[in-house]
Amino acid sequence: MNWKRGRHRRSSSADNVWYVAGSCIVFFLLGNLLMFQTYHGFVENRGERSMHGDSLQDHPISIKDLTGKLLGRPLMIKYQLDQYSVFESRLRKLMENTQDSGRGDIFTHHLSTTETKFDKNGNRLLNCGDIDNITDKEYIASGWTKAVYKGIYKGSPVAVKTVDIRGQDVGSCVEQGRTVEDCYWKAAQKIINEIVILQGIPHDNIIKVIGFCVPKKDADKDGRTVVMVTELGETIDLIKLLQMSWEDRLRISHDVTNLMEFLANTPYGSVSMNDYRRQQFVLVNGQLKLSDVDDVGFDEPSCINDNECTVVFSSSNFTKHLSCIGGYCLGYNEHRNLFNTGRHFTTFLLPHGAPLLLKPHIEQVVNAYSNLTLNSGLLVDKMNTIVNLYKSGNYLNRTAPEQHKTEFLKHTRSDLPGQHDYRCRFSMSGVGCTVSVFDQREAEDICKIDPECKGFVITDQTTWAGRKIVHLKNGIGKISTNENTDLLIKPS
Ligand SMILES: Nc1ncnc2c1ncn2[C@@H]1O[C@H](COP(=O)(O)OP(=O)(O)OP(=O)(O)O)[C@@H](O)[C@H]1O
Ligand SMILES: [Mg+2]
Repeated sequence: MNWKRGRHRRSSSADNVWYVAGSCIVFFLLGNLLMFQTYHGFVENRGERSMHGDSLQDHPISIKDLTGKLLGRPLMIKYQLDQYSVFESRLRKLMENTQDSGRGDIFTHHLSTTETKFDKNGNRLLNCGDIDNITDKEYIASGWTKAVYKGIYKGSPVAVKTVDIRGQDVGSCVEQGRTVEDCYWKAAQKIINEIVILQGIPHDNIIKVIGFCVPKKDADKDGRTVVMVTELGETIDLIKLLQMSWEDRLRISHDVTNLMEFLANTPYGSVSMNDYRRQQFVLVNGQLKLSDVDDVGFDEPSCINDNECTVVFSSSNFTKHLSCIGGYCLGYNEHRNLFNTGRHFTTFLLPHGAPLLLKPHIEQVVNAYSNLTLNSGLLVDKMNTIVNLYKSGNYLNRTAPEQHKTEFLKHTRSDLPGQHDYRCRFSMSGVGCTVSVFDQREAEDICKIDPECKGFVITDQTTWAGRKIVHLKNGIGKISTNENTDLLIKPS
């Protein structure tokens, strides 16, 4: 397979060296690993468990260890024993039923076993053979541990995550004197954690696993790698977020609030995002999704008294005191996640450009995020209120339902394709002035106060909030027929 790497600084000869090295590494890694580990040894070999489940161990991790890391303290949570064994058996199955993979470059896999797996909704998960058939692969991004590629599977775009053999994680591990095989395995373990966690807590705002390939322990000692396939997203950064329309920023704020509420109440306990950064999220068709869960934990700090339950955000000089209940600081993860959500998303996404009449509601949300005065459930309620007011056009504060008399000249089924487009602030498109409106009257109001606007084309397309998409025009030229649009010309 020919995976295009986007990092120009690497020469093709260097690439060849790395591909060969990568194959050798994987070959030795799995050979070594599988030779010294029997399955039972694998299960029984317990190690230390860190509070947040984010530190790696010195030896290949056991299934019990990994389950423990993922679930945190087992005796705290209702149904914990059941959940613990569900997770453990899920992981055990994952490890047992893995597929082998091929030689050549690090993404080449052979198909030898084809057990069919399904996700919670009954969708068949891609196996190693399917992953082999992903085409048009191209490097997108990498972090400390993983490299992410995009590709096409049966006509649909997918993201493929694998260990970045040239990444910081493997590199710094090797520098510390560990073998490359050992370091590769430690990094691969993070992807296996992710496969299990992502499947264990499915949600609209968490990236969906489409398939995976984990080398079978007793397979041939080929160049095998751990690979996870997920929905393909679009990376986000601060600039991209700030350039979005207020409506899209509202959507992201709503999504991230829903996610926080879900994470605070998963069947496995309250999830802590130990490494909260915007880079851990992507957008899938405009919807925000958490895409990196290798640093999440499922346990809250243990305590003896309330004094030990203070959430401290030293960079913001903010502290929040919580209660010690049943030996744990209840709400610790939720509050930490909420504060970080405020800092990274909501407090700067919501206020700027918000409709005037929604501002008081937005202030309440921003204050609650900044001072942690509401829990995630109440924040979801507040966000739902804002979204509903926005969707229903309530923010327009139209008093009497008087008949709106348009002063604009209406040409039905008419369009000005590619003509008289101009740039305006918060346009949804890169080329023209495209905005969403509740109705034609709102479009007219926007056009009236913009001296450059001479008219607009109202389409039958709608946004996620059900609002009509409108193209403002700074002139009127040759009018064409379009069954799906109307043209409205501003009175001069
Ligand atoms: N499904 C996806 N679609 C598109 N891009 C993605 C996807 N998942 C991750 N990415 C991009 O790849 C980058 C690296 O992925 P990921 O965060 O999982 O790796 P990592 O090594 O754990 O990174 P970090 O060191 O930042 O934690 C992300 O920052 C993101 O930009
Ligand atoms: Mg990560």
